[in-house]
Amino acid sequence: MSLIKKAVIPVAGFGTRFLPATKSIPKEMMPILDKPTIHYIVQEAIDSGITDILFVTSKHKKCIEDYFDNFRELEDILEISKNYEMLNTIRDISSMANISFVRQKEQKGLGHAIYQAKTFVGSDPFCVLLGDDLICSDKKPCLKQLIDVYDEYGGSVLGVQDVDLKDVSKYGIIDGTEVCENLYEVKNLIEKPSIEEAPSNKAILGRYVISHNIFKFLEQSLVGKNGEIQLTDSILKLVSNENVYAYNFEGNRYDIGNKLGYLKAMIDYALKDDSINQELRGYLKER
Ligand code: UTP
Repeated sequence: MSLIKKAVIPVAGFGTRFLPATKSIPKEMMPILDKPTIHYIVQEAIDSGITDILFVTSKHKKCIEDYFDNFRELEDILEISKNYEMLNTIRDISSMANISFVRQKEQKGLGHAIYQAKTFVGSDPFCVLLGDDLICSDKKPCLKQLIDVYDEYGGSVLGVQDVDLKDVSKYGIIDGTEVCENLYEVKNLIEKPSIEEAPSNKAILGRYVISHNIFKFLEQSLVGKNGEIQLTDSILKLVSNENVYAYNFEGNRYDIGNKLGYLKAMIDYALKDDSINQELRGYLKER
């Protein structure tokens, strides 16, 4: 049994790449078929053995809290109309895990968002799942793949995949030495490097297992690029003090914070849904 039971999901960002929709709808609440993106991410955490989840949220994201809360009046209506299947679905959502919330009062970057989880994490290793990175794996949930690496090797574990060289400037990029197939010991990492600066094309993609020692580095953290407090700056400090691994996980990753990523997720999930996939295939062919 893994020691890792806690996950932090930061959802406090402004989502500027998806404006104007994100002016009033958090991107994490944008639906992929009939469920908001965040539902799939919480499900991934639970399927990976997580029991306690902390959302780092902000004042414009109250509907995320509502989504995971009870909705007694709706349950009554579904009960009266004998829609028991949906009633169970609605009830299951509010009892998915022990979910709590903390506010990030100013959006000072991912590192600052994670720092808000210090009390929740205590002295345990913990996971981070970015609220706008959807990862679909047909085999083992992505987070579970990282937890399994942690259980075998210890340290911290970053989920990575190869990206096109032209895209390295969008991500934190690692430099590492291979430990075994798909596993690297991280020696360096650079946030949003140019193609020339990039030490590889292995990008950190929204899933982490992190040692609680990160908090002392976050605390000392100076303002990084773009005036934001970057998580990668503190992970880099962790690298000089303890083992940090990068695991090339199996699964399709969708950045639902941009239009194309969101659309790809919607199409791929719809193609897996038996109730609509035939008609959708026909429609796509016709187009
Ligand atoms: P992103 O940079 O992808 O999200 O952060 P963003 O800032 O909301 O979006 P854009 O770039 O303006 O379109 C990755 C994750 O970190 C959270 C975001 O909500 C997202 O889930 N985040 C980011 C915070 O919680 N707080 C922050 O200050 C910044």
